[in-house]
Amino acid sequence: MDGALDRVGDAYREILANTSRESRDMVRHAARFNGKRLRPALTLAAARLAGSEVTDDVASSAAIVELIHTATLVHDDILDSADVRRKVATVNVRWGNHAAVLVGDVLFSKAYRAAAYLDDPFASRYLSDIVGQVLEGEIHQDHVSHDPSLGEEEYREIIRGKTASLYEAALVVGAHYGGASEDLKGSLGAFGHHLGMAFQIIDDRLDVTGDEATVGKSLGTDMSEGKMTLPLIIWRDGLAPEGREAAVARIQHAWSCDEGAQELASELHTSGALERTDTAAQAEIDRALACLTAVPEGADRQLLATIAGFVVRRRL
Ligand code: FPP
Ligand code: MG
Repeated sequence: MDGALDRVGDAYREILANTSRESRDMVRHAARFNGKRLRPALTLAAARLAGSEVTDDVASSAAIVELIHTATLVHDDILDSADVRRKVATVNVRWGNHAAVLVGDVLFSKAYRAAAYLDDPFASRYLSDIVGQVLEGEIHQDHVSHDPSLGEEEYREIIRGKTASLYEAALVVGAHYGGASEDLKGSLGAFGHHLGMAFQIIDDRLDVTGDEATVGKSLGTDMSEGKMTLPLIIWRDGLAPEGREAAVARIQHAWSCDEGAQELASELHTSGALERTDTAAQAEIDRALACLTAVPEGADRQLLATIAGFVVRRRL
């Protein structure tokens, strides 16, 4: 298992070789953001479930998805004015926004180049659609920022694009390069979709309740950036209609100052909105686990179930 993940690490480093002297330190720094290696583990498990060895194409496609993920984080930290990622300074804080935009683009172009050099063009075709979905999710999120009336359905559409699509992709590329049938590819992709939805819901909960030292990244940025996330939506929608106007005012106050954000965070605690957010994440995990019934039994199916359990319980 670890040996296979090391092969993905080797492929990742190989894709990043031949970086210019000027960008090398920044690229190496950004590469440190891949802490949990969840997506590579998912890609490898999907390939093995398809009955394949971890071939060069499987390892490369895992590295390409992870590299796209790294590129999105570098850009995301600029947009969110975040200072810390994986317990180290973000690229924007260490080298400034201009450099961070360009480093994100370098990582992205390296990932695309690697996909273009695979014999089978699936990754470059499929991943260009996926990256489009990630970007549309981010643009949608920007479009509705500071809108306290955002509904749960629209929130779910945003996180489907910005996060769940790349989780789905991690499994689909593994399944594809492992030679899976369309049915198996579909089941594994659906598992990845629900896993990614749960991941982002928990991420949004940790933004309110997490401990920065444990999580290892800047928290509270959803509040400071005016993002209407699921804990807020659940809290607002759980109130009696006559309390909604005051709730909107409290949300707007929370977006405007730290004091308002802290007050609202404790209200989310006491009202039970955070527990209901956990329940929503668990429901996505249950849907993910249901997709595994169509997947061959064995150690890799168990690994996917274990990753699903980790995602919903994670505190980092
Ligand atoms: C994390 O969200 C961010 C994403 C899941 C996607 C970000 C994507 C972009 C900024 C588009 C850039 C695209 C390319 C191809 C370079 P979050 O802020 O909720 O999570 P966080 O807590 O980890 O910051
Ligand atoms: Mg962010």
